[in-house]
Amino acid sequence: MQHRARETCEECHWPEKFYDRKLVSKKYYLSDEKTTEWDITMLMKIGPEYKVLGQKSGIHWHVNPEVKIEYVSADFKRDTIALVKYTNLKTGEISTYRDTVSTYTNTQIDTLEHRVMDCIDCHNRPSHDFKSPIRFFDDAMSTDKITRNLPDVKMEAMDILYNNSFPTLDSANHFIQSEFTEYYQLMYPEIFDSSKVLIDKTIATIQTLYKKNVFPYMKAQWSTHLNYIGHLETNGCFRCHNDSFVDEKGDVISRDCDLCHEIKKQGTPDNLEMACDTASLEFKHPNNIKGKWKKLACVKCHKNLFE
Ligand code: HEC
Ligand code: HEC
Ligand code: HEC
Ligand code: HEC
Ligand code: HEC
Repeated sequence: MQHRARETCEECHWPEKFYDRKLVSKKYYLSDEKTTEWDITMLMKIGPEYKVLGQKSGIHWHVNPEVKIEYVSADFKRDTIALVKYTNLKTGEISTYRDTVSTYTNTQIDTLEHRVMDCIDCHNRPSHDFKSPIRFFDDAMSTDKITRNLPDVKMEAMDILYNNSFPTLDSANHFIQSEFTEYYQLMYPEIFDSSKVLIDKTIATIQTLYKKNVFPYMKAQWSTHLNYIGHLETNGCFRCHNDSFVDEKGDVISRDCDLCHEIKKQGTPDNLEMACDTASLEFKHPNNIKGKWKKLACVKCHKNLFE
């Protein structure tokens, strides 16, 4: 029964079809006065370096026909994982990884949901991704749908969208309109007078983006329908890859930053750090958080950046 999802995907994407490593470039914006741009280019290791190796390594290794990953989740959203089991179907060898930080007894584990990992454990939003305000804002700004010529534009938009919840789309629209207008009227009266058209256009764009991604009536949005690809706004890959799952032999499910991707470029557009050829860069956090990302899960801060 459980294999239905995988079979469905495989009608069109069969696992033997190899997906190459992919270079992904994205622009991010800080919510400071200038809405500072920060660019990151990463090589996603979807498959191994050499195509002939198929799914021998890399991200799609989990769905290699010789690999079976099972897991036990501690909550119905599968956001917290209690146990991971890897069976090498060729040799029959089994590794059982237990969480050494939050420990679960065997009796507890027996009562929880057991699953075989398949495509939708990572691609859990393949058709409808509810983007968070940070994401839809960044995507819109990087395609020039939102202007960079208003000071504080992201800061103010994030303040409105994260610190309020709206029962209906109408109430959201009204609030976005009035708060945004008031902010510029008060804080930047000259800009308010000279750039009324720009401000109204920005309001309209934010309202449209909100409507596409947040569904108050259905209670559906980024924070209810978590997306498990990545590890920034949800724990995603770090649900298992967090260095605290350890098997019988002492091996951990690693969160080494080069395991899944290599950072090739990062920085502001006028000060971009670039890796040469096969090298990768050590991650630099876009603003100074004193290296806290090395120990803390990204989601610890990123789940509530603006609250
Ligand atoms: C009816 C055929 C079909 C089925 C079934 C299907 N897909 Fe797709 N999928 C496509 C097509 C067509 C594309 C776009 C072409 C491409 O990029 O290969 C695509 C693209 C994708 C992409 C890439 C999107 C991107 O941003 O580049 C992912 C990931 C994906 N599908 C995952 C899945 C998963 C997971 C399932 C099962 C839950 C699934 N698909 C089921 C046809 C299908
Ligand atoms: C349910 C637990 C679980 C989740 C969730 C998970 N992984 Fe893994 N992953 C594993 C286990 C177990 C291994 C094998 C660990 C080992 O051998 O060191 C592994 C290994 C890997 C490897 C190394 C494969 C190789 O040998 O080259 C990559 C790359 C990887 N995972 C990427 C990801 C990415 C990307 C995500 C999120 C989209 C993810 N994983 C989510 C359990 C998980
Ligand atoms: C361990 C997590 C994980 C599992 C399991 C997984 N994928 Fe992926 N897949 C990824 C990640 C991560 C990417 C890279 C997407 C990105 O970050 O842009 C990816 C990329 C893809 C792409 C896009 C490739 C491209 O070149 O754009 C397709 C299609 C896809 N996966 C289909 C599948 C199908 C079908 C399955 C099940 C047979 C599957 N994936 C299982 C994590 C996973
Ligand atoms: C187990 C796999 C895995 C590990 C380990 C991992 N990442 Fe990622 N990371 C991903 C995936 C998958 C994405 C892409 C998400 C997407 O396609 O939106 C990603 C995205 C990112 C991004 C872009 C932010 C975003 O979501 O748009 C940054 C920056 C990043 N990772 C940094 C790191 C750092 C720093 C580490 C080490 C502490 C790390 N990663 C470890 C899988 C991993
Ligand atoms: C101690 C808290 C903290 C931790 C831990 C943390 N971040 Fe951040 N991050 C921030 C803050 C604060 C910002 C600035 C937000 C803004 O200005 O809009 C930020 C911004 C970012 C941005 C750019 C903003 C955007 O649009 O998304 C990226 C990318 C990012 N962080 C990646 C990561 C990654 C990857 C990790 C984990 C490896 C991580 N961060 C861990 C606090 C944190």
